[in-house]
Amino acid sequence: MSVRVELKDIVQEYPSADGEGIVRVVDGVNLVYDKPGIHMLLGPSGCGKSTVLKLMGGVRPDGVVSPSSGEVLIDGKPCDGPHDDAVMVFQQYANFPHLSAYDNVAFPFKLKLWKNRVPAGERDARIKEVLTAVGLGDKLHHRPSQLSGGQNQRLALAQALVLRPRILLMDEPFGALDAQTRAEMQDLLVDLWREQQCLIVFVTHDITEALLLGDRVTILSTKPARVAREFDITEPRPRSDLWLRSTEANRLESEILDLLKEGNVRGGGQVRVTI
Ligand SMILES: Nc1ncnc2c1ncn2[C@@H]1O[C@H](COP(=O)(O)OP(=O)(O)OP(=O)(O)O)[C@@H](O)[C@H]1O
Ligand SMILES: [Mg+2]
Repeated sequence: MSVRVELKDIVQEYPSADGEGIVRVVDGVNLVYDKPGIHMLLGPSGCGKSTVLKLMGGVRPDGVVSPSSGEVLIDGKPCDGPHDDAVMVFQQYANFPHLSAYDNVAFPFKLKLWKNRVPAGERDARIKEVLTAVGLGDKLHHRPSQLSGGQNQRLALAQALVLRPRILLMDEPFGALDAQTRAEMQDLLVDLWREQQCLIVFVTHDITEALLLGDRVTILSTKPARVAREFDITEPRPRSDLWLRSTEANRLESEILDLLKEGNVRGGGQVRVTI
């Protein structure tokens, strides 16, 4: 599935908390994603990662001009609001508590944006297929309260994948999971990506996660965000523990850490290293 997403000179300013002025959060970000793959976006806390991701998804905050300047282009066309090319997955999944796993995954087809995406006669097979792919094939009738945190995150992923989007935007999707479950979800994502080769832009704080998953790792500076560096990783996935301990991976890790520390000195947040 090919798609080109381009961010051109994106600046985002928000009203300051005291309402007296404005705060620049994103300061001239230029990014081009022109082939399918898993693209990691890494940066200090509060540097504007979610803001950049939402801009790609056409999600615009209420009452704020967004972006303040610059353009987001999808296949060369300006993206000014919600569009059916991209779906987002968040850390705080929002599965509907009163609906079964099956009905949660069926829900996007009720939305205006997506309702014509898949012919009605194909939906049932598609929903069951995607629930099986994320490992919930035997839990179609379970409600979210009957599922674990990891299973709920699988359900949120199924809800996104059922639409077979060309662009999947993931905002720290595994950040709230325990280490074991996170590792399982990372493996699952690698498997799913092999089948549905879309463009994934994946925000994380975790350098190891970036090295494990990314074809490219983009480092954003501390707020206001700029692109500090981009690294391409050519090691095929799945990437082994042995590779993670290799000279190449260690060099990448320490270069990324240095860039992020530079951010910290200038007042940014923390990063997690689990290597
Ligand atoms: N709608 C908004 N109105 C005002 N300020 C906002 C708005 N959205 C985000 N901000 C501010 O912009 C800055 C960047 O926020 P954003 O959520 O994009 O950062 P982030 O890098 O994703 O942070 P985190 O690492 O905590 O997830 C923060 O200081 C935040 O308070
Ligand atoms: Mg964020």
